[in-house]
Amino acid sequence: MTDLASHATHTVDLATTYLGLRLCSPIVASASPMTGDPGRWESIEQAGAGAIVLPSLFEEQIERESFAVDATLDGGTDAFAESLSYLPDYDDYDVGPARHLALVEQARERLSIPVIASLNGTTPGGWVQYARHLESAGAQAIELNVYDVIVDPRLSAADVEKRYLDLVEAVRAEVKVPLAVKLGPWFTSLGHFAVALQAAGVDGLVLFNRLYQPDIDLDTLDVTPRLQLSTSAESRLPLHWIGILRGFMTCSLAATTGVHDGADAMKLLLAGADVTMTASALLQRGPDRIAAMLAWMGDWMTERDYVSVDQLKGSVSQRNVPDPEVYARANYYQVLHSWRA
Ligand SMILES: Cc1cc2nc3c(=O)[nH]c(=O)nc-3n(C[C@H](O)[C@H](O)[C@H](O)COP(=O)(O)O)c2cc1C
Repeated sequence: MTDLASHATHTVDLATTYLGLRLCSPIVASASPMTGDPGRWESIEQAGAGAIVLPSLFEEQIERESFAVDATLDGGTDAFAESLSYLPDYDDYDVGPARHLALVEQARERLSIPVIASLNGTTPGGWVQYARHLESAGAQAIELNVYDVIVDPRLSAADVEKRYLDLVEAVRAEVKVPLAVKLGPWFTSLGHFAVALQAAGVDGLVLFNRLYQPDIDLDTLDVTPRLQLSTSAESRLPLHWIGILRGFMTCSLAATTGVHDGADAMKLLLAGADVTMTASALLQRGPDRIAAMLAWMGDWMTERDYVSVDQLKGSVSQRNVPDPEVYARANYYQVLHSWRA
């Protein structure tokens, strides 16, 4: 990565439109403990992030703790705001719903970039009314994360997709602000489901959730959770699918997983992403990583006479390349046969 100071005179326009919001840059701070830390917000904004996604409020958290908050919310918004000031300081990633709403309010007060709140769950139910509470707290968009592991062999792919669509419709009915859905990559026909989500009123897709596989400890034989941060190589999966979906989706597309440097982000924009989201890189290297990524992108664009991100987005999507088969099965055949060469 080259020196930041040498990029101060860039005239390229890095702005992009995501979920109908005009963002100053295509790098968004993805949900993680870093975006949940108010002490980091200013650095994230100053480094040039286009928006920030706060950590998720989980279905499980809401169902566990919603009773007391609901009673307060029923008393009206003023009573709610007042009640939040009595809550203990935000000092834990897994915060309760009331403190989570206070975090959204605080982020809106302190940040000028858009604040996207995240809801995380898999089944329709009373908890989805929190989408409305997040909107009332100031969220400018909602990201619904349907992180799921389907372990019941009686459930068909169609059953699972129907449940997600019911959930999306329930959340959609709660809010007026734009709604994005964050998905995992494992769908039998992702394009079909993506189009169905768009028809259900979704304004954007966030591709992809990074599923965390468990590990086995060979000393204790325990199955252990193990969080490993991503690498750049993992950005090829969102690149592949965003490149395909861009041709027939009109909603926004955000890339997440494996965005570590300006080159990763640029490839995803060329494939058709409206924004790229980054979490692991910020956790490893701090918010300044965003400034370095943007500087690299500005340089790359200047060298090739691009004047704006809008001009290059999707220019290398499946629809726009001379041989669309490079995004399909032919790519597999060619890759395998390129080994000896
Ligand atoms: C420690 C940690 C916490 C995360 N928390 C959330 C979360 O609350 N909600 C969510 O949608 N994604 C969450 N993510 C996922 C990230 O937002 C991101 O989608 C994922 O890590 C892939 O991006 P990356 O390769 O830049 O890390 C979390 C990731 C990490 C590493």
